[in-house]
Amino acid sequence: MLKDLISQYIEEIRSANIEKFEDRAAEVEKFRVRFLGRKGVMNELFEQFKTLPNDQKKEMGIALNELKNAAMAKVEEFKNFVEEKMDVEDSHDLTLTADFSQRGSRHVLSVTMNEIAEIFARIGFTIEESVEIEDDWHLFSALNFPPDHPARDMQDTFFVQKEEGKMDVALRTHTSSVQVRVMETHKPPIRIIAPGRVFRNEAISARAHCIFHQVEGLYVDKKVTFADLKQTLLYFAKEMFGQDTQIRLRPSYFPFTEPSAEMDVSCNICGGKGCNICKGTGWLEILGCGMVDPNVLDACGIDSKEYTGFAFGMGVERMAMLKYQIRDLRLYFENDLRFLHQFDNII
Ligand code: DAH
Repeated sequence: MLKDLISQYIEEIRSANIEKFEDRAAEVEKFRVRFLGRKGVMNELFEQFKTLPNDQKKEMGIALNELKNAAMAKVEEFKNFVEEKMDVEDSHDLTLTADFSQRGSRHVLSVTMNEIAEIFARIGFTIEESVEIEDDWHLFSALNFPPDHPARDMQDTFFVQKEEGKMDVALRTHTSSVQVRVMETHKPPIRIIAPGRVFRNEAISARAHCIFHQVEGLYVDKKVTFADLKQTLLYFAKEMFGQDTQIRLRPSYFPFTEPSAEMDVSCNICGGKGCNICKGTGWLEILGCGMVDPNVLDACGIDSKEYTGFAFGMGVERMAMLKYQIRDLRLYFENDLRFLHQFDNII
């Protein structure tokens, strides 16, 4: 009789299922009390066990112990189940409203490009944007690079199409191509800046990248002189790097300007005394510029006897590097949040 009872309880324990209950924690406790409590099944069966004749005690003792172990194991299993369920339900509260507190911010290159654009907008320059895939004419020929002139090798170009006897198409290597597009379609006075992406076939390193950004400037009108260029760039340098900034122009060469110059600003880190950023010179090179070559004006349909102009071009990555002391170009393109978040609060 005890034997039958034991196998009945074993079956009950085996088939007990906690999942169907609403309040599972309470159900576990109920189950535990029913089998293992003071007035529970086990104690009751042990009472009966005491009355058994001695020859049955060994067999029934083993069976009872098995039943007890089964009950304890089941209680443990139920407890674990309830705990796990609670963990999952706690960490996924589907009734919570979404958390939008991680807001994005503008990339430091966009911020810098906007800042340059705003500085020039204040003195009447408007923004022109144009295509990134350019033809030979707008990239080189109209800009006074003679055919097969070594100057074309000054820039390592990504050609999209290079076929014998056909016009070459390439990713633009500089934003100077926008000068040509604007002059071909607008009559002076022209006063524009052209911000945008440029591409060069360079090995990627801390100082070079195959994609970067430039801002081109162009001013064409009657009687534009080198003094206008100098004054415009001095204004820009002071707005960009602080009112104490000084500039110097060094003679240089570009096919599309004559005369041509490179502009340095006094080092904003050491104030011109000399440090490792300016390599001890007190000066930082920031852009190329010059008077638009009469050949370029004529090639673009603007009469060079009537009009003159100046142009300049600068690298945005370099500008941001100098302004925010960024030492590696690759950081701009890696989208590492630890880098990006440092610029959250600049406008
Ligand atoms: N296009 C030149 C470059 O990519 C930069 C430049 C120099 C632009 C002189 C100009 C300029 O408009 O006048 O290196």
